Amino acid sequence: MHLTREEEGILAGEEGRGRQKAMELVVALGDIYNAKRLIPVASAQVSGASFKTVGDAGIKFIEDFSSRARVSVRASLNPLGMDEKRWREMGVTSAFQKKQARIVAAYQAMGIELLYTCAPYLAGNRPRNGQHVAWAESSATVFANSYLGARTNREGGPSALAAAVVGKTAEYGLHLDESRKPRIRIEFEEIPEGLVPLAGYLVGKIAGKRVPYVEGVRLTADEHKSFGAAMAATGAVSLYVYPAPGKKKVDMSMIEECVSLPRSELMSCADDLRGDDSWDLVAIGCPHCSPSELKGMARFLKDRKPSKECDVWFCTSRKTYASCPKEVAVLRKFGKVLCDTCMVVAPIEDMYTRSASDSGKAMVYLPTLGKQRASFRTTGQLLEAISR
Ligand code: F3S
Repeated sequence: MHLTREEEGILAGEEGRGRQKAMELVVALGDIYNAKRLIPVASAQVSGASFKTVGDAGIKFIEDFSSRARVSVRASLNPLGMDEKRWREMGVTSAFQKKQARIVAAYQAMGIELLYTCAPYLAGNRPRNGQHVAWAESSATVFANSYLGARTNREGGPSALAAAVVGKTAEYGLHLDESRKPRIRIEFEEIPEGLVPLAGYLVGKIAGKRVPYVEGVRLTADEHKSFGAAMAATGAVSLYVYPAPGKKKVDMSMIEECVSLPRSELMSCADDLRGDDSWDLVAIGCPHCSPSELKGMARFLKDRKPSKECDVWFCTSRKTYASCPKEVAVLRKFGKVLCDTCMVVAPIEDMYTRSASDSGKAMVYLPTLGKQRASFRTTGQLLEAISR
């Protein structure tokens, strides 16, 4: 891979051990994927923030990195394992909180913006069409590539961190036009109300690592958020392509398979993931709720009363929470409006065993990372269930 004189210098340690280590990582990835050069990134999004997912070994790595390096581009952080202010109310232990605080302090010392959200594009870190970025969170990556038109690979936590430090990433994968061409065409007959997350769930399963071209979907920005998150969880999809007015013509020359998905396929997926009705937690907000989602739910609930004998979590970013005080007040009558965290990266397995969610991504991770017996319901069904 070609390196400029400045990049060579960083690699040789001329700018300190921290930048050298970061450059080593970026270059190693470039070599593995046969990149020809490094390119500047406009921002980074760093995952590996929850103590639950990084563990003690992760703390050591982050503290070590943090003692020697600072970020050189805008970088924001994924959700933590707890709400920073209301962790006691969640049932998080003080031992967990102490470890979590060490992780936060290390990232903060590096200059990383403590947004604690998987939807940084709703909290100020929103790349423009065509910009190269280095994002790690899978749901954010697929949204950035597919909806915002930015370019990023699905980075790992350490590689996003390294890119944030050197301000560059290796030019391979989804940074290149060639890799962004769809390889499979998936056509939906119709997506029943509330089942967009399961449409994404099926796309990921079918597409696997391939870029899908998806037809028959007309989605709002919020729906793109949950659609992409689900396919990034069931498959390794970090970009999907779809027809939209004003969008440039898609190069279909690499399509190798066409699949039609009738309405019945989505209904049977919903049936398969239905589980049962006995939940001890209803969890909404994977990915983190947007202001319009909080508003829609508050509108529905405002004249109703809580009904279900189970806890309810509405997960969002602190920025969105602060921007919707009236809606938060309504939702708080029905459950906890949690910031900085979510039902997957919080230690939910120590608190609950049976949870329901409206998220296709959560249907993958609640049973695995969260050790839950998980039930899928649409947002509307969950709101009906928790109110009367
Ligand atoms: Fe976000 Fe947690 Fe879901 S990080 S995408 S809410 S698993």
